[in-house]
Amino acid sequence: MITGDRKKSTVAREAYFLSYIEKARKLTKTPLLLTGGFRSVAVMDKALEEGNLDVVGLARPFCLYPNLANQIFNGSVKRFEAPIPSIGIKFLDKLGGVELPWYELQIQRLGKGKSPKKNLPGILAFWFSLKSLFFKSFRKN
Ligand SMILES: Cc1cc2nc3c(=O)[nH]c(=O)nc-3n(C[C@H](O)[C@H](O)[C@H](O)COP(=O)(O)O)c2cc1C
Repeated sequence: MITGDRKKSTVAREAYFLSYIEKARKLTKTPLLLTGGFRSVAVMDKALEEGNLDVVGLARPFCLYPNLANQIFNGSVKRFEAPIPSIGIKFLDKLGGVELPWYELQIQRLGKGKSPKKNLPGILAFWFSLKSLFFKSFRKN
């Protein structure tokens, strides 16, 4: 996620780590939660039916659709998207200073009682990550 390197086949399959959880299931009976790439109710249902996981985790989608769990359970949403924001400079995008902070900024908005902003410019997230890195470097603990 951090480097933005995702094979097309992985994205199409949605749940990135299904093969890992299959192996984990063979080793333990403890309930397992799988996060990473789920974007449709059909794929979530299928993964649960197959029995290798007990709970589906969602990260980026919840930053944009905080009411998503209710929408899934009341049947009003079947598919959802979580964009991969960029600033258009491949090298900087791949450094990981855009995507994660972009979603952090969405969480900050939610924390302030604002709605998520899907058109938030990637450059703002990059600036936010630079700023927090800079201040963290000089902060005395
Ligand atoms: C804002 C944000 C913060 C995250 N922080 C962590 C973290 O501290 N540790 C971790 O292992 N994964 C972290 N992740 C990764 C998520 O747990 C998850 O594995 C990843 O986003 C893929 O799931 P998704 O496709 O549902 O977003 C974070 C993701 C986001 C969007």
